[in-house]
Amino acid sequence: MNLPKIDPRELRQVLGAFVTGVTVITTIDTAGLSHGLTANSFSSVSLDPPLVLWSQALTAYSHPVFRDAERFAVNILADDQIDVSNRFATAGADKFSLTRVRVGRGDVPLIEGCSAYLECRRVVGYPAGDHMIFIGEVECIERTGRRPLAFGSGKYLIAQPHDFGMLSADQASSNRSRLQAVRLATHAAVELSAQLDETIGLAVWGNHGPTVVHWELSKQPVSLNLRVGAVLPMLGSATGLAFAAWLSAAETSAFVAADLALAGGATSPSAVHDSESLETALTGIRASGLATLTTVSNFSDRSADSVNAISAPVFDRCGRILLAMTALGESDKLDISPEGRVARALKTCATQLTRSIGSR
Ligand SMILES: Cc1cc2nc3c(=O)[nH]c(=O)nc-3n(C[C@H](O)[C@H](O)[C@H](O)COP(=O)(O)O)c2cc1C
Repeated sequence: MNLPKIDPRELRQVLGAFVTGVTVITTIDTAGLSHGLTANSFSSVSLDPPLVLWSQALTAYSHPVFRDAERFAVNILADDQIDVSNRFATAGADKFSLTRVRVGRGDVPLIEGCSAYLECRRVVGYPAGDHMIFIGEVECIERTGRRPLAFGSGKYLIAQPHDFGMLSADQASSNRSRLQAVRLATHAAVELSAQLDETIGLAVWGNHGPTVVHWELSKQPVSLNLRVGAVLPMLGSATGLAFAAWLSAAETSAFVAADLALAGGATSPSAVHDSESLETALTGIRASGLATLTTVSNFSDRSADSVNAISAPVFDRCGRILLAMTALGESDKLDISPEGRVARALKTCATQLTRSIGSR
């Protein structure tokens, strides 16, 4: 049977979907010179006996050395060692003069500051296509507790616990759920921003009102002056309107009153100028599940006259708004219509977060 030819670029991308750690494999040659290269082909093979493998391109400058070497060490990089990874991924470079190392078994260099180490004796090298697979018996291991660097889809990643399962009732009912929600929402904002190429903000209800805890900037954000910690206007921001719609009046009344007193100012939404128009606006927001607003831009670094924002609530398991997740963009570019692409994606993301946090 004639199989369709695999497109090497597509193959590379498919393989990139398998997220790995990053290692630098080191060894020493017969003249006592150190060699090493960045490799993510590392994998465990057997626990008893302890065996690991990695594979090396036959074209690698250091291949003849590894092919003949008796020993190699696997240095599992920590997440602050991207510079080390890049250095050891540069063909034939002088990799060791800038690298802090210590000497391991058989004088093989070990890179300081890694997450873990496996010192191996080479058991066998199998030719496999354009690579050679090396299997090593592990003779010595060490763990430092540093968080490992991760790699996927051609990018360095940060490895963090994935908590997108349901939280326990205890966790959900405590303040931990709020911290957890911010952490989950931050991850979700990274993905949503990449998916939509829009700037995504996260805000919580703070002592002084709606408070930004995270911005995930799009490639061309409406401003580079978006601040974490900024307190947003209650009625002059989609985020503020989301909190006004879903928090109790007792919690928001002081902030709402202060904003209503400013009604007619540059940042006030024209539709909301008294308590009656506010109530109509909030009823509409609750019905659609989204707060939207077009305001005058007051970002000094952008020429855009007005800014569009659309905000969706994330609730805790008691149905209380925990977070507002908001897309922000220039008004001629960001579609904030309730059935639009951004509205739908934002709502889906906020609903998924609400579910993860354990809403009833
Ligand atoms: C994240 C990452 C993972 C890599 N994994 C491997 C690998 O598993 N095997 C390999 O031969 N090259 C791998 N490379 C490429 C080598 O590090 C690169 O070709 C290096 O220049 C080889 O060094 P040398 O030519 O000086 O021997 C990887 C590069 C990066 C950035």
